[in-house]
Amino acid sequence: MATKIKNYHKDIFILGIESSCDDTAAAVVKDGELISNIVSNQEIHKHYGGVVPEIASREHQKNIVPVVDMALKKAKIGKDKLSAVAFTQGPGLLGSLLVGTSFAKAFAQALNIPLISVNHLHAHLLSPFIKDNKKKSFPPFPYLTLLVSGGHTQIYWVKKELEFELIGTTLDDAAGEAFDKVAKILGIDYPGGPMIDKLSKTSNKNAFKFSKAKIKGLDFSFSGLKTSVLYFLKKQIKKDPDFINKNLNDLCASVQKTIIEVLTEKIILASNKTNCKNIAVVGGVAANSEFRNNLRSLSKQYNIKFFIPDPKFCTDNAAMIATVGYYKYLNNNFADIGITAQARLKY
Ligand code: KG4
Ligand code: ZN
Repeated sequence: MATKIKNYHKDIFILGIESSCDDTAAAVVKDGELISNIVSNQEIHKHYGGVVPEIASREHQKNIVPVVDMALKKAKIGKDKLSAVAFTQGPGLLGSLLVGTSFAKAFAQALNIPLISVNHLHAHLLSPFIKDNKKKSFPPFPYLTLLVSGGHTQIYWVKKELEFELIGTTLDDAAGEAFDKVAKILGIDYPGGPMIDKLSKTSNKNAFKFSKAKIKGLDFSFSGLKTSVLYFLKKQIKKDPDFINKNLNDLCASVQKTIIEVLTEKIILASNKTNCKNIAVVGGVAANSEFRNNLRSLSKQYNIKFFIPDPKFCTDNAAMIATVGYYKYLNNNFADIGITAQARLKY
């Protein structure tokens, strides 16, 4: 039986499925517009100081059917209306990816509709194009994107929806990973980024100074920050065992300031190098409130137009998966049913 592909581009309903890490998410996009968006967070990992892969995949197995069901209900459509199923093929945790991949393959095959594989990084890149009911402007091609998540810190030159080039990347840890690792040292539950953001609000970001790696060009390095925090704390705790407790908020704010400074320095460098004043900032760390405030000031200072998705579209979601799915659908870019999940999928 041949797969049903519509040869007219109207009433296209794409179901997006995201399961690369610890969030199970499903969303529906109609003709490129978001009509439902469900994310189920796995709270359980916070007790372990990080995502436990085996637990994550078991949670995805529990969540995937109800989450997809809810996304269809919210979209007020039956599954028979779907034009294609888009899913995250990688990169991510293999066990987690397998749940979404297997579900998407089975669902597409049962409905006899096309399957669309999506690179998770591509999905973050297109997150500024998620069309919800809020008025917003979209970045004009070509433009720059800083992608800052838990697993990646990269700069891309984006030429079109399906065409982009990597021009900078971290040599070790990602910015989100730096937030999470420092948080763990400070005794803050996983994921540390949102909590560091919160605790930093009422504190002195100039209380402590941590060194920044000097990396040339558009690459990054964050692994030294965690080590510098660790050595600093060891020294202070010798003098006062309660040092972290007494200074927690100031420590958070000082670390956050250091990470943000590195990111903003590279943004300016990338803008100067490419002579580009349109810059998107995407991925979980782009949800950071102080970072977003800093970008607003940078915008005025350097005459740069920033495109930063709503915080809920910065962290992992399926709206971005369905959005890539929509553009791939328009390009007849479909996956074979034999496709497999890829933990280390690259761009
Ligand atoms: O994009 P994302 O949800 O998942 C990945 O693809 O990795 O990013 C998750 C990362 C985590 O490291 C988390 O701590 C960080 O984004 N993050 C934040 C904030 N919200 C999420 N970091 C700083 N401030 C936040 N508000
Ligand atoms: Zn992500």
